[in-house]
Formats: sequence, C-alpha cells, structure tokens
Amino acid sequence: MLKSYEAKTFALGALDGLSETQISEHLKLYQGYVKNSNALLQKIEQHKQNAEAMAIELSELVRRFGFEFNGMRLHEYYFSQFEKAEGSNDALKMALESQYGSFDAWKNQISAMAVMRGIGWVLLVQDETNGNLLSVWVSDHELGQLGGQKILFALDVWEHAYTVDYKPTERAKYVEAFWKNLNWQKVEERYR
Ligand SMILES: [Fe+2]
Repeated sequence: MLKSYEAKTFALGALDGLSETQISEHLKLYQGYVKNSNALLQKIEQHKQNAEAMAIELSELVRRFGFEFNGMRLHEYYFSQFEKAEGSNDALKMALESQYGSFDAWKNQISAMAVMRGIGWVLLVQDETNGNLLSVWVSDHELGQLGGQKILFALDVWEHAYTVDYKPTERAKYVEAFWKNLNWQKVEERYR
C-alpha cells in the first residue's frame, strides 16, 4: 500500500516584495497539487484491477501524475527556500564560482532563464556522477526534468507565482524579489 502525501507547512515571515496574499494564494495551489497527487495514486491503484479494459483512462492518469507530483514537490523546494536557516556554509557557492567563473555569473544566467517566455521552473541540479551543477529549464512541472539529478534550487516562474503582486509583463521584478527573499543557506543545506 502506498503512503499518501501530506501538504507541508512553511515557516514564512513577512517577505519583501511578495505579499501575504500572493503567498497564501500560491500555497493554496500547492495544496491542490498534493491533493491531486493523492487522488491520482488512488485512481491508478483502482484501475490496476482492470488495467486492460481501462487502458485509455489509466494511460491518461499515469501521464497526469508527473505533472501533479512534480507540482507538489517543486513547490516544497520553492517555499522552504524562504524559511530561515542558520549557518554560513559556502561550499555550493564556491563550487558555482569554480564552474561558472563567479557566483554572479551563475545568478545572472538563472535570472535570464527565469524571464524566458513560457511557464515553468528554473532549477539548479547537481549531477552526482560528475559534480556538474546544471541550470535547467522545466516546462510545466515535469517536462525537461533531468534523470537522477539532485535538486538544489527551484525558482517558480509560473504566472501564478507573481501576478497577485506584479503585472504579467513584470516577471523580472518578481525574480528580483525572489532573490531578495531567498535564504541561500537553505540551498547550501541541500548541497551538503
Ligand atoms: Fe507555483
């Protein structure tokens, strides 16, 4: 029997440039991904009893699962980055400096990717086979995810992430606010 998922809560104080309403609306969407991941798991399980007769329904449910599940999981990376974290580790920062020339060069690349047209996510992932730190674009929540990569950093660039506070054309302003509120130590913790 598979376990179901529970929506996490995040210890978020007041954020700079991201209003309480923006965040609470966004959290409601996150909770929807958790709910739908659980609902899909259940439905897929039910259809397994009759997989042949339900092949079309089952294939659509299975395809949908990646969207809902990654929608759930990526938001958990996203929101937890705004939580407080102690420590002053800079191992990841140093690794980014060595691979990108400077931390700012990496950050600029992420910011440029974040204003690409289309909705999705910008991730930093670690290839554990050779240590490469890859900046990745993911469309929706699941298209373009690289296999076997450890997610270190997640920036949501769906319009729902900022259009309570900003116009759809003001994504760059949202990205600026995101950097301001990001607690880098949360990202460092994932690298260790
Ligand atoms: Fe989102």
